[in-house]
Amino acid sequence: MPKRVYPKRRSDRRRRATRKAPTHPGRPTGETLLTAASLCPPLCFDYEEVASEYVENTDLDYETHGLTVRAVVSTATHDTTFPETPMSDTSLFAPVPLGKLTLLNRLVMAPMTRSRAAGNVPNALMAEYYAQRAGAGLIITEGTSPSPNGLGYARIPGLFSEEQVAGWKLVTDAVHAKGGHIFAQLMHTGRVGHPLNLPKGAELIAPSAVAAPGEMYTDQQGMQAHPVPRTMTEADLGKTRAEFVQAARNAVAAHFDGVELHGANGYLLEQFLSPNTNERRDAYGGSVERRMRFVLEVVHAVDDAIGGDKVGIRLSPYGANAGMTPYPEIDETYNLLVEKLVVTGIQYIHIVDHSAMGAPSVPEKLKHALRKAWPRTYVASGGFDRAKAEVALRERRADLIAFGRPFLSNPDLVTRLQKNLPLNPPDFSTFYTPGPKGYTDYPAAG
Ligand SMILES: Cc1cc2nc3c(=O)[nH]c(=O)nc-3n(C[C@H](O)[C@H](O)[C@H](O)COP(=O)(O)O)c2cc1C
Repeated sequence: MPKRVYPKRRSDRRRRATRKAPTHPGRPTGETLLTAASLCPPLCFDYEEVASEYVENTDLDYETHGLTVRAVVSTATHDTTFPETPMSDTSLFAPVPLGKLTLLNRLVMAPMTRSRAAGNVPNALMAEYYAQRAGAGLIITEGTSPSPNGLGYARIPGLFSEEQVAGWKLVTDAVHAKGGHIFAQLMHTGRVGHPLNLPKGAELIAPSAVAAPGEMYTDQQGMQAHPVPRTMTEADLGKTRAEFVQAARNAVAAHFDGVELHGANGYLLEQFLSPNTNERRDAYGGSVERRMRFVLEVVHAVDDAIGGDKVGIRLSPYGANAGMTPYPEIDETYNLLVEKLVVTGIQYIHIVDHSAMGAPSVPEKLKHALRKAWPRTYVASGGFDRAKAEVALRERRADLIAFGRPFLSNPDLVTRLQKNLPLNPPDFSTFYTPGPKGYTDYPAAG
């Protein structure tokens, strides 16, 4: 497996960052180069860490959140067939329907793993964090496992036990009390993980016995190589499907407004889609259509269980997280997948372009085709600021815009964007560390 999957981008404005390593307990201290991998890992690309100078709302390449962002402001180079509508209809700050819900605005808080769920159970600190951000039209929680086998990272929450349902109720009730809406992101990590992070009796399973490249952080022994996962049997497929369904039911019981199926960023569902991680020769591998079979089965089953108006799916074509590499049939795969998703009743597709974090960008042509094919809510994410979000909405390239890092470090992001106030920069060193520091202590603008 090649270490780098795309060329480093260069910019005159870049310089290498020299910082202390993040404060994962058990990690060696004194490292000077902060790499994405050392930040641990729900989202780690093999990109070059760049300077952290914070520049707001500029065009073209700019540096923000510690990364160089390739800004793409109003660049519909294809023939757009989405009708222009007045900004009053598509304003970022105007209420908008999502299925049977009415969201406060078109801003979505993107799913972000924060590793604060000791014992894999949500808690009062997490309720405080999410309630602080309830001004978002929709919050999508951090990746939350439907199965003990899907808890690949340290301290991520699950949604398969009574204790977890009770913990999540603290969160959902706190968000609802402030008028917000919240979906649980159901993330099964598949091959991405380490047995030290899993509860007793759980194991790493995946479509095929192909290890993820690189290492995984564990609380007990620091960074560890990814083990080779066990190939899922027919029985595993049925059991895992059922776990997704039960987790979706549990989400409803925990007062969530819905669930987002994590089909992105190199986790279990995407591991089925890619020929680089799916080497099966049964009904679940071998052709584009067969590789999407498990994903579609999960979507249909969850749709049947809780109603499609409460379901979305996140997809990351061309994503490079967790060792995903490009393959010739990417466009064909996502075009066909979305075509097949249309006939389900699910409410939204959430397409993330992680070029702002160093992944290859999703071709405009593909984004356009997916947008055009999708008849219901389309969520776009990756590298947005207010200006880019407004252009995307005005050009009808999306219905909702998800913001990740800006929400992480700005609990009152909606107000700040609305009033054009400066943003707090995120502190990378506390992304995945336990406790309130860098979690619930980012200041509101006041
Ligand atoms: C700390 C952190 C954790 C993340 N965890 C997840 C996750 O659990 N699930 C997911 O789909 N994406 C995850 N992401 C990706 C974000 O949802 C988002 O796509 C990414 O940050 C790009 O958006 P931005 O440029 O607005 O930050 C994570 C990103 C960050 C920074």
